[in-house]
Amino acid sequence: MADWSTIAALPQQKLTQLFDADAGRLERLSLDVAGIHFDFSKTHLTAEMIAAFDALARASDLAGKREAMFGGAHVNVTEDRPVEHTAERGEGNPESVRRARGYHARMRALVDAIEADAFGPVRHILHIGIGGSALGPHLLVDALGRDSDRYDVAVVSNVDGMALEDVFNLFDPAATLLVVASKTFTTTETMMNAESAIAWMTEHGVEDPYGRVVALTASPDKAIEWGVDETRVLPFSEGVGGRYSLWSSIGFPAAIKLGWDQFEELLEGAAEMDRHFRLAALHENAPVLAAFADLYYTQVRRAETRAPFAYDERLRLLPSYLQQLEMESNGKGVTIDGKPVTYPTAAITWGGVGTDAQHAVFQLLHQGTHLVPVEFLAVIEQGDTLPEEHHRQLLLNAFAQGAALMKGRENPDDPARAYPGDRPSSTLLLDQLDARTLGALIAFYEHRVFVNGVLLGINSFDQFGVELGKEMAKAAAKGGGSFDPSTDDLIRRAGLA
Ligand code: F6P
Repeated sequence: MADWSTIAALPQQKLTQLFDADAGRLERLSLDVAGIHFDFSKTHLTAEMIAAFDALARASDLAGKREAMFGGAHVNVTEDRPVEHTAERGEGNPESVRRARGYHARMRALVDAIEADAFGPVRHILHIGIGGSALGPHLLVDALGRDSDRYDVAVVSNVDGMALEDVFNLFDPAATLLVVASKTFTTTETMMNAESAIAWMTEHGVEDPYGRVVALTASPDKAIEWGVDETRVLPFSEGVGGRYSLWSSIGFPAAIKLGWDQFEELLEGAAEMDRHFRLAALHENAPVLAAFADLYYTQVRRAETRAPFAYDERLRLLPSYLQQLEMESNGKGVTIDGKPVTYPTAAITWGGVGTDAQHAVFQLLHQGTHLVPVEFLAVIEQGDTLPEEHHRQLLLNAFAQGAALMKGRENPDDPARAYPGDRPSSTLLLDQLDARTLGALIAFYEHRVFVNGVLLGINSFDQFGVELGKEMAKAAAKGGGSFDPSTDDLIRRAGLA
């Protein structure tokens, strides 16, 4: 883990002072990669700070670890696995890339078969999965599939039957293809929802419901055992983590909704970001600079949260996608060597959609007592067909909020109406929201998480923290034993004992 004292010792200046003192600041702290303009100039990063971070990154062997990840080394040490999501987009060790291409070919063949009505007319796709097996595909379909009337896609994750029942009320079972997405094919919620979806099809006279199931999994044997024919099992590698899996067969609903060419564009956009991450110097590297800012705020300024706000309805699911990516990856309490950490790890990711959030949570951002680095995401090209004033208002609001957070406003006569300012933000401005740019954007976040993990000295690729609660829920479901007076009472009150 890096020693932040050199960075903490640097003079801390206000954002407005940093701009006043350095005419080249905007240029130095903004860059354009893969159709995305990154503006980090409203963060407290300075040339000196970046040089100090650069030294820490070298001391942590960031470049070596990055190449180890791309090269297929077992960088996920606790699970003794390689990390293979970049191979899904063609950037990785040749063996992993070859295997991913084979899996993609299977996936493409199935997309073609469905389009050619091999399963009869399919109008509805019911995708069942949770966590990484739902958030990524849901984001893709929601962001990019709005203008496509190819299929209706619903993504159901919650074990709460209401989620599934809502879809049952909308979809025709005879025209529905059931997609069961689970890396392990053992996740309680997913398997229960899948069983209920099969029961719904059976009750509505679908003769061979299992014949209308596609399984997306790294455990093909389990899917076959559950009843899916091998020809409709789309595998992916164990080395592709759940929250990094939308590039693999887990992206199937997006491939079918958007069409295969768009899915390939998504992969190519991500590959472009991969190449940038691998090749650009650290001080001109978008994921690296973003991670340096993250680390400055978590380690030196002790910010406990960070908040991305999507100023584009199409990206409304991005904050929840990022919550899993960032918090499941870097919300850790031990170092990669298994020692307790003595410093904060990942910030809590929260966020929302602009302009709505301005009328709800921005009060705290402008005047509250927490330091919250904000991230604005906006798209230059308008997505809707309403008068362009809507889009103009949307973008101007995003930019004005960043300016207000930084500048603040004094009011000696009325402190309640004063704004302290000096509140950091970064802005990611996409030329347009298409598959390629979204691929690059998501890959940017993945690499930013990786850089944070390396400098924090933790393993970003395991997630043992989720296991205990799962085990206890399973034990409770089996009626196994008692917990504690409070929990036992709640179980009794709900009539579950
Ligand atoms: O409980 C957390 C988790 O293991 C995530 O890491 C994962 O994305 C999700 O559950 C779903 O797991 P699976 O794809 O195996 O059903």
